[in-house]
Amino acid sequence: MIPVIAIDGPSGSGKGTIATRLAAAFGWHLLDSGALYRIVGLAALRLGFDLESPDEERLAALVGRLRIEFTLNGFVLLDGDDITQTIRLPEVADAASLVARIDVVRKALLTLQHGARVDPGLVADGRDMGTVVFTDAALKVFLDASVEERATRRYAQLKEQGADVSLPDLFSSLRERDERDRNRSVSPLVPAPDAVLIDSTAMSIDQVFERVLEEARKRNLVPSQ
Ligand code: C5P
Repeated sequence: MIPVIAIDGPSGSGKGTIATRLAAAFGWHLLDSGALYRIVGLAALRLGFDLESPDEERLAALVGRLRIEFTLNGFVLLDGDDITQTIRLPEVADAASLVARIDVVRKALLTLQHGARVDPGLVADGRDMGTVVFTDAALKVFLDASVEERATRRYAQLKEQGADVSLPDLFSSLRERDERDRNRSVSPLVPAPDAVLIDSTAMSIDQVFERVLEEARKRNLVPSQ
């Protein structure tokens, strides 16, 4: 069985950075499942869907039609267009969390996510990697941090990318998105019962990475050089 490390948690918890680092260190594949929901959110926004109560069948059909590519050098393409930066916009994050509540959308994305499980291993980053998509993951990590810390981190990240964002706006939209993700009826953001919980509020990225490596070592997941 191809091994999977599942890293779940809310936005800004550091899971993207940790997942990317782990995948690079192990030479494993990386699944950024949030990007898939962002792509669906963006496509739905562009087509003028009412995201509060969308036509679910039309939305599921849309997911089936999307031509999504993740290039080896880190670009995300939708129907051939480069949307790498666009999907990081706060309004696209909101659209993502609105479409992510819909069961048919989640089901339509399942095959794509399972398809990312290829040799020699997969690091999967998201909200339900350990609870729904890869329940047999060899290591499940649930990474959390205070909402203040997460908003500050996301703000710095977006500023660095040149985005025009305000910290108070980001804070409230992050909190709203969290609420929605934690309280939805399908695949809510909750730790798997067998997940290792890490609160990264007062930890550096290096410390979190070391902690995850320690858990990977315990499970004999670290590839020998
Ligand atoms: O991780 P990221 O911030 O890119 O995710 C964007 C949104 O996509 C989340 O707020 C969440 O609603 C949704 N999502 C999800 N399940 C996943 C990954 C992301 O519902 N596995």
